[in-house]
Amino acid sequence: MLQLPKVIGHRGAAAYALENTLESFREARRRGASWVEIDVKLTADNVPILMHDASLKRTMGVDRLVAETRAADLPKDVPTFEAAIDCFRELGLGCNVEIKPCEGREVETARLTVETLRRCWPASLPPPLLSSFKDASLATARDGAPQFARAILIDELADDWRRRAEAVGAMGVNTSGKKLTAPRAVEVREAGYALSVYTINNAAVARALVGMGVQCIITDAPDIIIAALNS
Ligand code: G3P
Ligand code: MG
Repeated sequence: MLQLPKVIGHRGAAAYALENTLESFREARRRGASWVEIDVKLTADNVPILMHDASLKRTMGVDRLVAETRAADLPKDVPTFEAAIDCFRELGLGCNVEIKPCEGREVETARLTVETLRRCWPASLPPPLLSSFKDASLATARDGAPQFARAILIDELADDWRRRAEAVGAMGVNTSGKKLTAPRAVEVREAGYALSVYTINNAAVARALVGMGVQCIITDAPDIIIAALNS
């Protein structure tokens, strides 16, 4: 069974700092997280960087698509994936690397993400968990670096979840905590998969999900969820 922490900081500690930035990872660490989740995309010149949206507008105030921006032209607060890994080494943080390709770049994004991991991931850290909503990205990750565990990302579990997980050799299922039902949670756990949920920022909801068999809560507010699960 895949070993995961009870709590992962979503995009760092997105409730307290600008998401997917080095400051957000430092904040997650200060608030007790041992792992963070990040979103990896490619720039126009094929550099893996951290950004959730297709556009830089919401987080950086720049009305431009990531896929049309060269790495050298990114706002300074957008880290490259390599810079983020250096930061994790310094802070001792594990990572759930979500492969979040821009439209049509599923294979290339996964290929360069695992190439970076193979080259840069520190032996001092626990191995990363790769996840994606895109099966083509997970299949590419499996073929390029089978040693890194994978989780399928599904917003709402349906009857085909297990077929999808088996097709990409996943060991985990990451799904929306707000949509997860108790029977689906039992099904996933009994099938031997690690079960993680996003994005849960409420203490009582987190406790209820753990009671349903969820192993890991992905949250914007790691301090609140860590305190809830330890009380
Ligand atoms: O990886 C969990 C979660 O981050 C998936 O959704 O849209 O926040 O990347 P999103
Ligand atoms: Mg994500």
